[in-house]
Amino acid sequence: MKVIAVFASTLNGKISLSEDDKTEWTSREDKRYFKSLTSSVGIVIMGRKTHEAIGRALPDRLNIVLTRNPDYYRPSENLIFTSSTPKELLEDLEKKGHDEVCLIGGAETFDHFADLGLVNELHITFEPIIRTGIAGLGETMERDLDLSLKEFRKLGEAILTVYEVK
Ligand SMILES: NC(=O)c1ccc[n+]([C@@H]2O[C@H](COP(=O)([O-])OP(=O)(O)OC[C@H]3O[C@@H](n4cnc5c(N)ncnc54)[C@H](OP(=O)(O)O)[C@@H]3O)[C@@H](O)[C@H]2O)c1
Repeated sequence: MKVIAVFASTLNGKISLSEDDKTEWTSREDKRYFKSLTSSVGIVIMGRKTHEAIGRALPDRLNIVLTRNPDYYRPSENLIFTSSTPKELLEDLEKKGHDEVCLIGGAETFDHFADLGLVNELHITFEPIIRTGIAGLGETMERDLDLSLKEFRKLGEAILTVYEVK
């Protein structure tokens, strides 16, 4: 199973700028890239807080939301709430014939997957802004992550970087 983490970041490494951040600060070009990548993969996994920040299920993708309290939330055709461990969830998806998923946040959920060695690729768009912010990737990680650069490209004023996890 290939896990592709997809994030937008400020130039100083913040992916969340406030408690109620809804990532409105990301560019049109990044939103288009996010939609195209996640739609072609077809499955997005996220933490409950990211789902609440988005405020709806992303259309044309299976949305899987991790929460310790899945019974509190109402699932729908393309929206599932689960308390499975990341490993169990990925094994289950693999058994159903899937070989790729996008992990779309937030930082807490990314750090959790990264600690378990479950992230294979990282797509980060660096927006040309510097902000105080409240969270960045890796701030709660318990191990180091080494990456190798696969690709970079201009996305409007932003830079998309694609890394493979070593
Ligand atoms: N810039 C970007 O690319 C980007 C991407 C995504 C999100 N964000 C921003 O990041 C913020 C949210 O991120 P966050 O780090 O605070 O939270 P988060 O990772 O979205 O959600 C954390 C929650 O997910 C659930 N969870 C995570 N791992 C779990 C596991 N293994 N088992 C069960 N439940 C698990 C827990 O929910 P329960 O408390 O319900 O148990 C936990 O409280 C938002 O402001 C959002 O806008 C930015």
